[in-house]
Amino acid sequence: MSGKHVTFILVVFLWHYGSSQVHPQVRLAGGWEPHSGRVEVFYNGNYGTVCDDNWSIEATHVVCKELGFRKGETFHYDGRYGPGGGEILLDNTHCNGDELSIFDCEHNPIGRHDCSHAEDIAVTCVPLPITEPPPPPKERFELRLRSKNDVEPINEGILEMNLGNNKWRTICADDWNLDAAKVACGELGFSKAYKPTKKYSNKDYRRKSMIRTGIQCIGTENLLSDCEIEELEHRKYCKSRRAVALKCETAEYGHKYSNRPNPVGTGKKNNDKKKNATQEVQSTQGNYEPEVRLKAGAYIGEGRVEVYHAGKWGTVCKTGWDLGSASVVCRQLGFGSAKEVIFDAGFGQGIGPVWLWDMYCKGNEKSILDCYHGIWNGSSCTHYDDVGVRCNVPKHDLKKNVRIVNGRWGSEGRVEVMVGNSWGYVCGDTWDMVDALVVCRQLGLGYARQALPTTYYYGSRLRGAMIMGDVHCTGKEWSLMDCPHTIRANFTCSSPTMRAGVICDVALPDVVLDVHRLREYLYLQDMPRHLLKCAAEEGCLSSVPDKYGGSRRLLRFSTVILNRGLAAFKPFLQRNDWVWHACHLHYHSMEVFSTYDLISRDGEKVAEGHKASFCLEDTECDPGHTKRFTCTTEQGISVNCKDNYKHSIDCQWIDLTGVESGNYILKIHVNPDKFVGETDYDNNEIQCELYYSGYSVSPGRCHYSYDL
Ligand SMILES: *[C@@H]1O[C@H](CO)[C@@H](O)[C@H](O)[C@H]1NC(C)=O
Ligand SMILES: *[C@@H]1O[C@H](CO)[C@@H](O)[C@H](O)[C@H]1NC(C)=O
Ligand SMILES: *[C@@H]1O[C@H](CO)[C@@H](O)[C@H](O)[C@H]1NC(C)=O
Repeated sequence: MSGKHVTFILVVFLWHYGSSQVHPQVRLAGGWEPHSGRVEVFYNGNYGTVCDDNWSIEATHVVCKELGFRKGETFHYDGRYGPGGGEILLDNTHCNGDELSIFDCEHNPIGRHDCSHAEDIAVTCVPLPITEPPPPPKERFELRLRSKNDVEPINEGILEMNLGNNKWRTICADDWNLDAAKVACGELGFSKAYKPTKKYSNKDYRRKSMIRTGIQCIGTENLLSDCEIEELEHRKYCKSRRAVALKCETAEYGHKYSNRPNPVGTGKKNNDKKKNATQEVQSTQGNYEPEVRLKAGAYIGEGRVEVYHAGKWGTVCKTGWDLGSASVVCRQLGFGSAKEVIFDAGFGQGIGPVWLWDMYCKGNEKSILDCYHGIWNGSSCTHYDDVGVRCNVPKHDLKKNVRIVNGRWGSEGRVEVMVGNSWGYVCGDTWDMVDALVVCRQLGLGYARQALPTTYYYGSRLRGAMIMGDVHCTGKEWSLMDCPHTIRANFTCSSPTMRAGVICDVALPDVVLDVHRLREYLYLQDMPRHLLKCAAEEGCLSSVPDKYGGSRRLLRFSTVILNRGLAAFKPFLQRNDWVWHACHLHYHSMEVFSTYDLISRDGEKVAEGHKASFCLEDTECDPGHTKRFTCTTEQGISVNCKDNYKHSIDCQWIDLTGVESGNYILKIHVNPDKFVGETDYDNNEIQCELYYSGYSVSPGRCHYSYDL
């Protein structure tokens, strides 16, 4: 019997029975984790095993619940945890699932069986205790790092703790170790900790204000205050006479890929903690596998959690989701520990499978995929159960050199930047939604609802000069100054009124295309030219001359556009600017709502994708949501509703006339120019492989562009 085995039994024992002398009636043995193993029952002073005859998932539930887990996950006939010893006590166990003890189930008289130990049953439980004891209310001590130059973000310096009322204290280094450092760095927004490279002398910190904490951390805590803090004593008891100094790893934003080390080739064992930390850092240079990402968050380090598996991005269900699992995600992405967990699609619903559920992380996993979870895509969760996280990120003084002024209210206005000692304007010539979202985020105002290239209605008085232009953000920047840009006194802008502005919002829509519906109806139709007058008028036909007999060849398909975001999707134009199309007898509220393109294998556009304008409405809504928008009155798509464009309606096609046979890609992009603000633009494009024989089309794989 291994030492691990012994420890485990002890843990279960203590967990359920404290230190009393009562033996639990059932235990799991031989497992690698506390929630799985061979079932052993206690009878007449000894433990014995249970035969697998007639064992069921109900019996598994009974054992698991008796042990304090939420329920059974599965059971194993295959002797996975080895044969047990002692007597075979139970056989032919029949449970309903609601018995309080395995002994309450029907079974042969104890000890009567026709089995051998090779038939010992083993189970795996869903590893969450039914009731978690409410955590004792703990005082939270704020942390900060102090360094000589104090330019944020500070990642190396003396650690200080706020004992309340701004009583900042340094901490005696006596009990400090890397586990505590990891927790402190996590709370400060960094994913990793190592020993400071600088030497700090007593002169560097305020020794007078030093306290001794007797701190004990495991390393997986979310906050330093969650560690065991035994004492808060005055410095004179500090043996080392040194204060804690930290060096945290500055994580680069946009670590879309995990830091999962290449499993091959790092075989060196090393017990020295300092060297281990260095190894961890080096392992980030290994092969990256895309595994987890945060989507649709307004700020850096927050969003809906999505994981990559079997070629597809999918989401995580709320069952089992907690700060511990969220912290694994945050650290994996290069942030600190988790600050807050978000349930019930708080960042809007995702698409694709709900991959993970019943998550359970120990806290030291390198990747969320190393945590325990239910069978992939095996839950009955829906995207209404999608989870998200807000991670601790390093403190930045982001509001320092950007502000918005003269708006009607605080979340909108003209953008001004500080260069040298004066505020100036940003030229609106290249200003777009991506630039705007960086500004909104940086100012803590949420998502960008609109990017205004000109802001004359925010007052025309020119107080400053145009000093910035050519801004080209990628959307990942923490601040406008991090985006590629030009700063010049009297920046030449097309007009002095082209001053960039933003409208920010905390809730925006998120339109998504339904990939299945597109593939369902995809076919060719030859139409005589004279039946396409309206379509020609709206520019839905290519400029290629008509085919013989004056007909056009149309690739028709259906598009279904869902709004999975946090607010209604409203057209870009105000109602009185809508354009009446007499031919089709409806208003167009947005000239470019989606683009349809046919792309060759070399990436060349072969069929000019016409810009489809639409008449937005709620065609269908999820149960419990009411339709609000119709094409003729108020246009839009409500949250959790969809707008269907059937394959049979005019302009719902690509004009293939004159296109040669071959392999192509059909690309559909909704809101391509980002005119309407959304929480996420990456899910707006889908692509289908398509073979065109010259007479017919056969669609291949269809997927969201980001799944490629
Ligand atoms: C399972 O139970 C049924 C009825 O209780 C019994 O007839 C059968 O023999 C049992 N199966 C085994 C493998 O013992
Ligand atoms: C996930 O499960 C659902 C329902 O069981 C199934 O329809 C779907 O095809 C699965 N998706 C993947 C990608 O496995
Ligand atoms: C900028 O242009 C204005 C007028 O167009 C001029 O008065 C001012 O001196 C210029 N400033 C600089 C720094 O060139």
